[in-house]
Amino acid sequence: MLERHIRNIFDSVRQQNEWRMKTINLIASENIVSKTVSKLSGSDFAHRYAEGHPGERYYQGTEYIDKIESDLRNDFKTLFRSARADVRPISGTNANEAVFSSFINPGDIVMVNSTPGGGHISHHLAGSVGKFTKNVIDFPLAADGFHIDVDRAKDLIRICKPKMLIFGKSLFLFPEPVHEFRDICNEYKIHIVYDAAHVLGLISGGKFQDPFSEGVFIMTGSTHKTFFGTQRGVILSNMGMIDWQKVDKGAFPGSSSNHHLDTLVGLAVATQEMISFGKGYSGQVVINARALGKALHRKGFKVMAQEYDFTESHQVAVDVKDYGGGKMVANLLKENDIILNMNILPHEPLRNVTNPDGIRIGVQEMTRVGMKEEEMDRIAAFIAECILQGQEVREEVNRLRKDYAEVCFSFDEILTDLQSPNIFS
Ligand SMILES: Cc1ncc(COP(=O)(O)O)c(C=O)c1O
Repeated sequence: MLERHIRNIFDSVRQQNEWRMKTINLIASENIVSKTVSKLSGSDFAHRYAEGHPGERYYQGTEYIDKIESDLRNDFKTLFRSARADVRPISGTNANEAVFSSFINPGDIVMVNSTPGGGHISHHLAGSVGKFTKNVIDFPLAADGFHIDVDRAKDLIRICKPKMLIFGKSLFLFPEPVHEFRDICNEYKIHIVYDAAHVLGLISGGKFQDPFSEGVFIMTGSTHKTFFGTQRGVILSNMGMIDWQKVDKGAFPGSSSNHHLDTLVGLAVATQEMISFGKGYSGQVVINARALGKALHRKGFKVMAQEYDFTESHQVAVDVKDYGGGKMVANLLKENDIILNMNILPHEPLRNVTNPDGIRIGVQEMTRVGMKEEEMDRIAAFIAECILQGQEVREEVNRLRKDYAEVCFSFDEILTDLQSPNIFS
């Protein structure tokens, strides 16, 4: 009985592998790791602990991870031109928690992007920020819904005097107007936090915005959305040592103890890939997203932010209310092996969150497997055939995907001789 259960788990994992290799994955928060990175999983590091910092651990036996971790920390500092980096958070939320716990006190006012405005739950009352203060206010939005109304936000800042502004979002089409808030934040001693979970890879490739040069105090991020994975988080800053010590404690012991060394070694390789290929990759991601937006628009879809050429990131947002709403459309596409998620749009009330008008599309993973503008046109055609004409497109989707089985922007083709250090292989 038990044995059958274990075999079933193995079967499920195999089925997932086989199925997902046939699908067009457009979930904006995901990416795939290269073969080289993937080979690293399941080494002895999967079993180990390394609390503290390289060279200052609470456990013995950490010599090898110490070297990998301190090199990785330095690579992040170089890549983002920051004086400080903490690579220990095990996710973007975890990184946010380390920062929010360090700088938000009960009663502080924090200004964030609302949920319909694209903000992430960790910035909200129900998430991490809400553990430290109940005073969360939203950035006012411009009429298009995808940009902050800077003048109204500044008026609100003068009245409310928030302690912190949190930029960055989950539905993230355009750079945030960070530099426009620099002076007022200096005047009122407001910390600017930039959550780069979605756009970390685009920033490191120089294709989005450069938050530090625009006045950001601290930046957090996930390492697996537009960055090349594995699934972890990071904190970067140019702040002084006294403030950084707070963040350091926020990361450990504040928001985690051991930091999952198995994924840390994968991230070390993924970061080398980003250093070598990030610029070309992120440029193609933005080109592809815009191409997909345009193609969907040509097919008759209500693609958001048309007046701004749809997007400057890896994402496109589409209002599909006329076709049954985001949930129905996302489910229909899933039946045809196109995977994406429903998403609330800026014009909607919060109560729509579980049945919103929109879908969010991310092209970063399909770009990583080598797709370009032509394939974006084909994806738009599949979506149109499926949603507008009610046709089945699964077989064509699978056929297209079959030609994109390799992970590009990696060392996979060069380092074919590398044996997996998986402890049992
Ligand atoms: C803006 C933003 N911040 C943080 C997170 C959380 O990241 P993670 O899933 O790595 O915890 C997300 C997740 O999608 C996000 O969109």
